[in-house]
Amino acid sequence: MQGYLETTRNVYKEAAENPQVGLCCTTTPVWQLPGLSIPKKMLEMNYGCGSTVHPRDLVNTPKILYVGVGGGMELLQFAYFSRQQHGVTGVDIVDEMLAAAKENFIEAEKQNAWFRAEFVRLIKGDALRLPVEDNSIDVAAQNCLFNIFKQEDLRRALKEMYRILKPRGRLVLSDPVCEQDIPGNLREDDRLRALCLSGALPLKEYIQMITGTGFGTVEIRAKRPYRILDSLHYDTEDLIFIESVEVCAIKDPMPADGPCVFTGKTAIYYGSGDYFDDEKGHVLIPDQPLAVCDKTAGGLQSLNRKDIFISGSTWFYDGGGCC
Ligand SMILES: C[S@@+](CC[C@H](N)C(=O)[O-])C[C@H]1O[C@@H](n2cnc3c(N)ncnc32)[C@H](O)[C@@H]1O
Repeated sequence: MQGYLETTRNVYKEAAENPQVGLCCTTTPVWQLPGLSIPKKMLEMNYGCGSTVHPRDLVNTPKILYVGVGGGMELLQFAYFSRQQHGVTGVDIVDEMLAAAKENFIEAEKQNAWFRAEFVRLIKGDALRLPVEDNSIDVAAQNCLFNIFKQEDLRRALKEMYRILKPRGRLVLSDPVCEQDIPGNLREDDRLRALCLSGALPLKEYIQMITGTGFGTVEIRAKRPYRILDSLHYDTEDLIFIESVEVCAIKDPMPADGPCVFTGKTAIYYGSGDYFDDEKGHVLIPDQPLAVCDKTAGGLQSLNRKDIFISGSTWFYDGGGCC
C-alpha cells in the first residue's frame, strides 16, 4: 500500500505533466510587478494558496530557498527582487515538477529582459531532509506543501527550515488552516491530503508547532477564505470551512516569557499624559497606534486602564510595533 508521501509525489507528478488550473487557487491576486511577465503555463501551475513573496523580506540581497517548487512562479517573483546568479534555490522531490519548472524558466527568460534562468538553481530534494547547509539561508519559503504533512513530518519539515536559516532568518509560508474538526476519514484520505484539502490544522496549533521549533517571532500577515468541503462532494456531514494564511516566522532568540506572535492587535493610548510607558519596552504616544504582539496585548489589557484601547486581531500584520 502507498503511503501518503508517495501519493503526494504521484499527485504532483500528474500536476506537472498536466497543469491543473485552480488546484490550490485562492482570491489572492498574483503579484503584478513592473516589467514582470509570468508565462501562461507557469501561471496555470500556480499551486499555492497565498503569497510568500514580500518585498520587505528581500532587502540586502538575501539568499533565498524555496521548498516545493511547483511551476516556479514564486521563484520567478523572488528572482525579480534578487536578480543574481543562484539568488534563489528551489528544492522539489518530484523530477517531473523540476523539469516543468525548468522549462517555464526558459520561457520566462524570453518574456523578461531582466531575467536569466541562472538566477534560479533547482535541486532535487526532500523537505524532510533538505540538501542545504545549516545556518546558510536568509529567507526560506514554502507555499501549500507543509499542510500536507502529518504531524511528525510537519515537525520535521519545520525543524529543517529552522536548521538551514541563519540567525534572524525568515521562514515565509502560506498554507490552508481549519478551525473545525476535519473528520478522520477525510484526514486519512491520502489524495485529499495531497490536494491540500484535509491536512489543515487550526491556526493556533500551527503557530504552536512553529514556535515549538524555536522561532521567537511569528507574524500573521494574511488570512483568507479558501475552500468548502460539503456533503455533496466529500464524505462529511458538516460543511467544513477552510481558510488560507500567510505567516512569517523569524529565527529570533526565544524571549524568556515566550514567543512574540503578531496577529494584528494594536494598542492606542488616548490618555492625557504625554505618553504611557509599560516599563517593558513599550511606549505608547497618544493617538499613535502601536502594533503589539498578543503577549503584550494581554499584558496591557490586564492593567485594566481606561485610557488604552487594544484592538482585536486583524490577521493582517504588516510590520511595525515592538515587543
Ligand atoms: C501544492 S504544490 C505547491 C507548489 C508551489 N509552492 C506553488 O505555490 O505553486 C506542492 C509542491 O511540493 C512538491 N513536493 C511534494 N512533496 C515534497 C517533499 N517531500 N519535498 C519537497 N517537495 C515536495 C510538489 O512536487 C509540488 O511542487
